[in-house]
Amino acid sequence: MSSGTSAVQTPKAFKPRIFSGIQPSGGLTLGNYLGALKRFVEKQDEGIETIYCLVDMHAITTWQDPAKLRHATREGAAAFIAAGIDPKRSILFNQSQVGAHAELGWIFNCVARMGWMSRMTQFKDKAGKNSENVSLGLFAYPALMAADILVYHATMVPVGEDQKQHLELTRDIAIKFNNDYGVSFFPVVEPLIEGAATRVMSLRDGSKKMSKSDPSDQSRINLTDDADAIAQKIRKAKTDPEPLPETAEGLKDRPEAKNLVNIYAALSGQSVAEVVAEYAGAQFGSFKPKLVELAVAKLSPITTEMNRLMADPGEIDRILADGAERADALARPILEQVYDITGMIRSRWR
Ligand code: AMP
Ligand code: TRP
Repeated sequence: MSSGTSAVQTPKAFKPRIFSGIQPSGGLTLGNYLGALKRFVEKQDEGIETIYCLVDMHAITTWQDPAKLRHATREGAAAFIAAGIDPKRSILFNQSQVGAHAELGWIFNCVARMGWMSRMTQFKDKAGKNSENVSLGLFAYPALMAADILVYHATMVPVGEDQKQHLELTRDIAIKFNNDYGVSFFPVVEPLIEGAATRVMSLRDGSKKMSKSDPSDQSRINLTDDADAIAQKIRKAKTDPEPLPETAEGLKDRPEAKNLVNIYAALSGQSVAEVVAEYAGAQFGSFKPKLVELAVAKLSPITTEMNRLMADPGEIDRILADGAERADALARPILEQVYDITGMIRSRWR
């Protein structure tokens, strides 16, 4: 754009492009794998343009020890690659290396409304009774997330169920920006929340999401867990005394049973109905060993490959640098147009 004025633009078609991110605020879990990573790989393999990001700037909205953050970022990158992300076909990088995210994030802080942000359930959950004392970044977090996506004009965002509200907010920000400036500049993104495991629950409490920040390590399967740890955690997973039902509807009001069946279905690539049909009437004493066998078969190769990659952090850093350069080349021109639309003088850059 060379005019230096923000002419009203006609609506344009956006080409399919996928963006998603994971916070390097700890090790990744089976929930991240089934709800996000595994789906990221499927999208890459469908031949869509895919951009995946370790969102280190999001991670510091809650305190992160610097050495641990660095480690978790590299380990996250290793998990992506071990799970099947090819850094040549997808763009894989960490957020802080592409300044356009933070720059657009600021502009979106000025588009998003306080009221919208106050309704975010993830903020309310994370802040709890402590809302006066959490960081301002934690409150503004969804505006930065919208920037992550929209700075690439991404059209589709694969995520787990817990991110649905943030993606609705991303749509609201895009619509308000377009309306305020009289442009059709940002696409209205589509959340991709699909599959049997869009919300993997804690192994200790079927009403809580499996999370890397849960104080109990028994509540989750980490992608770094070895076969013994996986077996032990699944064997001890909370269940109810009933056998598995005859139909998927029979899992209603049985959150722990439903969770284990969902995990089995997602890992095996079957539908929940198929798994229930296969194990109808089985006791957990016989279902759990089958789940252990399946989980170990699917996760062990990933863990082994992660460990191999982590032995050479320099190589991981090179991959992230290369991804960041390619991401920057996509994001910069879009951000420059945003500055132009909003009336910022950018004579230094032209
Ligand atoms: P986070 O670890 O919060 O950065 O989440 C990264 C991605 O993993 C997001 O798409 C989440 O929706 C997804 N995710 C995290 N935990 C779970 C879970 N327990 N079940 C399904 N998806 C999850
Ligand atoms: N908010 C996401 C989470 O906590 C992580 C994230 C940040 C993200 N930016 C994103 C996910 C952009 C999808 C797209 O899980």
